[in-house]
Amino acid sequence: MAMPAQVYDAWDSIDVDIFDPKLYEACRRPMAEAETMPPWCYTSDAFYRREVETIFMKIWNFVGRTDQLPNPGDYTSFDFAGVPVVILRNRAGEVRAFANTCRHRGAQLLEGDGNCRAIQCPYHGWTYGLDGSLTGAPDMEETKGFDRADYGLIPVRLETWASFMFINFDPDAGPLKDFIGDLDGMLTSHEMEDMVTTRRVVFPIDCNWKIFVENAMEAYHIPMVHGGSISKHKAKKKRESSQAVDGEFVYLYTEQAGSRALMPGDTGFPEIETLDAKAGAGSYYPLIYPSTMFCCTSDCMWYLEVHPKGPHKMDLIHGAVFPKKTVERDDFDEVVKKYYGRWDQTAMEDNTISEIQQRGINSPLARPGRLSFMEPLVHTIDNWVLDRVLGEDTPAGRGIRE
Ligand code: FES
Ligand SMILES: [Fe+2]
Repeated sequence: MAMPAQVYDAWDSIDVDIFDPKLYEACRRPMAEAETMPPWCYTSDAFYRREVETIFMKIWNFVGRTDQLPNPGDYTSFDFAGVPVVILRNRAGEVRAFANTCRHRGAQLLEGDGNCRAIQCPYHGWTYGLDGSLTGAPDMEETKGFDRADYGLIPVRLETWASFMFINFDPDAGPLKDFIGDLDGMLTSHEMEDMVTTRRVVFPIDCNWKIFVENAMEAYHIPMVHGGSISKHKAKKKRESSQAVDGEFVYLYTEQAGSRALMPGDTGFPEIETLDAKAGAGSYYPLIYPSTMFCCTSDCMWYLEVHPKGPHKMDLIHGAVFPKKTVERDDFDEVVKKYYGRWDQTAMEDNTISEIQQRGINSPLARPGRLSFMEPLVHTIDNWVLDRVLGEDTPAGRGIRE
């Protein structure tokens, strides 16, 4: 690919339009002819800001499960793509999301996770009910025309599917149901709405969010990166990677016996009884665009929740989710250690290689590469991103170009 050489020197400080579609012609070709994304897509602040604007501010972003907040007053707060958000369960038992920003002079209200009877701003003490309404504002009686009803917390759209919570910053976005599409039917037999989150671990990673996602959705790296862990899993020949007919996701499906959540040779919990024939014969690995990965195997599911933090930074939240019946077993705490051990090991392997890739791609001498037939979803994901970042989101211009 003939690229303007100076683009590599300092993407953000020179006069090259990195959003010119011509620079991406080689990525847009069918996979066997395509090049990988230009390196600045993983390093440039301007590219990252465009992704936030055209992707993360527009789509349904996955942010955990409702069972993390079992009681009224339970809350979780975090920054998503630079926006401080709080999710809390109100007295009516509903889970709602709000901007985590005070309506007085804007202080951040809550930090981390916890339980509260009301939300009190740490700055001047304005107080909000669990429904987001402003219930107390000291010394405001001389402020003309001030009505507390006008100063409730700013709501953020939150919808749930199978107890998974998604937020959307775009008031005009379609419903979550349409975004999820066929994924619902594909995973129904796992009965995930009745599962329990038993552990959430946050891994800060020094890499661009796409580097992590591309890695998670290809099996090409498994012999090298997971040589000492899961590479010995015996998969039958049948591997499927496919784009959804309806819904914003792609998935991998691997046919094999037993749980993919264990190290090869380990035994763990019984299989989920309700699995349909296909779910019982293998594991599904859907990627809900652009960065949420579920892994649904024979005895549990786990998820990879990605919070982008800038061009070179992200948080991975690894969630472990088991059927209620399994969690109630007397031996759960003991046996689950095998699962946590396997996940921690492979997360460490994937996170480390993602940081190694980022360090190489930061180089002014990095250049676009080529793709193996083993990594079709890297090409699909990158083109999905380009459709949005370049504003070419047309039905004919989307997805796998083959
Ligand atoms: S900024 Fe919150 S009460 Fe003043
Ligand atoms: Fe991996």
